[in-house]
Amino acid sequence: MTNPLHSPAFYAGDPYPTFRELRATDPVCWNDTAGFWGLLKYEDVRFVSTNPGLFSSAKGITVPDPSIPNPVLDGSLIFTDPPRHRQLRKLINAGFTRRQVAILEPKLRAFARAALDGLDPGDVEFAEQIAAPLPTRMIAELLGAPDADWERFRTWSDATVGMDDPDVELDTFAALGQLYEYFGELIALRRNGTLTDGDDLLSVLVAAEVDGVRLSDADLLQFCLLLLVAGNETTRNLIALGTLALIEHPDQFRLLRENPGLIGSAVEELLRFTSPVANMTRCATEDVEIRGRLIRAGQYVTMLYGSANRDEEVFGPTAEALDITRNPNPHLAFGCGEHSCLGAQLARLEARVLFEELLTRFEHIELTGAAVRMQATMVPGVRQMPVRLAATVRA
Ligand code: HEM
Repeated sequence: MTNPLHSPAFYAGDPYPTFRELRATDPVCWNDTAGFWGLLKYEDVRFVSTNPGLFSSAKGITVPDPSIPNPVLDGSLIFTDPPRHRQLRKLINAGFTRRQVAILEPKLRAFARAALDGLDPGDVEFAEQIAAPLPTRMIAELLGAPDADWERFRTWSDATVGMDDPDVELDTFAALGQLYEYFGELIALRRNGTLTDGDDLLSVLVAAEVDGVRLSDADLLQFCLLLLVAGNETTRNLIALGTLALIEHPDQFRLLRENPGLIGSAVEELLRFTSPVANMTRCATEDVEIRGRLIRAGQYVTMLYGSANRDEEVFGPTAEALDITRNPNPHLAFGCGEHSCLGAQLARLEARVLFEELLTRFEHIELTGAAVRMQATMVPGVRQMPVRLAATVRA
């Protein structure tokens, strides 16, 4: 049977009616065009994520494209199965705990304020001017890139965003080369002792050991790149799609403005409702049956977070509604189990701070044109989102 789960245009549009139908009629469905299974139900996504022995990440994590082998970056955390995955993850977890991330808040707020202070009320390109800078800035900060390098860092890392979009230009590869070179310099500064008192994540990783062995330069480079790819477009997408969802649900937007204390549950609901990462894929290591369908060893299985996050069996009759007071809200926007998002606390904090600062400055945000999405199966980001901002009048 054919379905559109292989198509970038499908994810860049409104996939939710199709998800709803498939959940009801064919929740473990075979995509004939690209040859993979789609999982639509919450419990099935949990099952796959929490059984990394049965479902490997090492053969690729993206929706398969039959014209090319599924891309894999050997040695990168996100493509590594246990037990090696657990060892690598242990090394870097310390930099991402809730406590560690909370320490970043003052800096994060200062960055958000600086970005928004430069904006006058009126017409603004939301995706580029508001959603994009903060996540990149925080990754530069995590990696200990000096402030003076910020503009260069931003240019290179912006070029790596949306690499699977057909409009992407060849310059991307040149930018990626420059970025690798730059990361190499940051690593060397720490290795050769020029920078000895750094408490940034990269300094911690340079000093870290797995079974008495230090991480190689190649491991460290992979990790820097993973942070950029995993932390940039995803968080931008949450900020842009989250704002769009609030604009499209004025009652919820008003509720949040009138009750700023709801920001925590609002961010969780925006994560659930927008599912900024549309899916992740695994490869079955042996034959497994799910809901009576036989998944053969070697077949790919794609977990559709956007569908799981609107599963009526978990979220009830309001599963399709935006409700910023929803509690509990056990969404899977950050995945779960072995590879659950390392940057979840950071992403939450970035979104909270940005929304807080945005809402105190501007009392009204309206869309002035269509939001244009990137054509991508995994993170169909927002490329353009023109808005008009009206300033808050202070008494
Ligand atoms: C709203 C923003 C974000 C969303 C929705 C998101 C979503 C996800 C998801 C669904 C996974 C699971 C991958 C899997 O199971 O294969 C993941 C993994 C990961 N994320 Fe995020 N992410 C976000 C932001 C970030 C940020 C800000 C960072 C870091 C700066 C980050 C770093 C990572 C890393 C390193 C992994 C791989 C973890 C592993 O393999 O153990 N993410 N993310």
